[in-house]
Amino acid sequence: MSVRIAVYPGSFDPITNGHLDIVARLGPLVDEVVVAVLQNEEKRPLFSVAEREAMIREVVGERPGFRVESFSGLLVDFAQRVGARTIVRGLRAVSDFEYEFQMALMNRRLSPSIETVFMMPREEYTYLSSRLVKEVFALGGSLDGLVPPRVLGRLRERFAGQAPA
Ligand code: PNS
Repeated sequence: MSVRIAVYPGSFDPITNGHLDIVARLGPLVDEVVVAVLQNEEKRPLFSVAEREAMIREVVGERPGFRVESFSGLLVDFAQRVGARTIVRGLRAVSDFEYEFQMALMNRRLSPSIETVFMMPREEYTYLSSRLVKEVFALGGSLDGLVPPRVLGRLRERFAGQAPA
């Protein structure tokens, strides 16, 4: 029997409870989930790829059928390398749709055998993004219930000594 592997790609800078909600929903649907962290240092992420990978491993924990990897280059090439037939993306609101639609169709053109599947997170996470998490934290707002405590700790370390903007 073939193993069903799904790639869940993103920047994860940092991982949020919305991402974790998707991972939890996805787990029972496939045999293996590969969380794929984009190596996008040119976008000047707050956390390095190694830090982002470590945070994801810390908050998800050791689970059979779950692993974290980083990738550069085309997502479909990475998916093929790990033997995945499915790319999973979270869809939060209509505003996500156009970008996701373009990516899904481009990826299909590049690799017709790989299917993109969209999953909706819990309603309370539909406005949540890593970008807003960083902004709210930097401005001294509460992230209660939006990121795991471990991620909050990493944000505190990263912003240590900086007064809220
Ligand atoms: O969390 P993000 O930043 O929305 O994730 C975007 C991601 C990583 C899915 C996207 O940037 C990507 O797939 N990058 C890899 C390069 C690639 O394959 N580009 C062509 C896709 S249309």
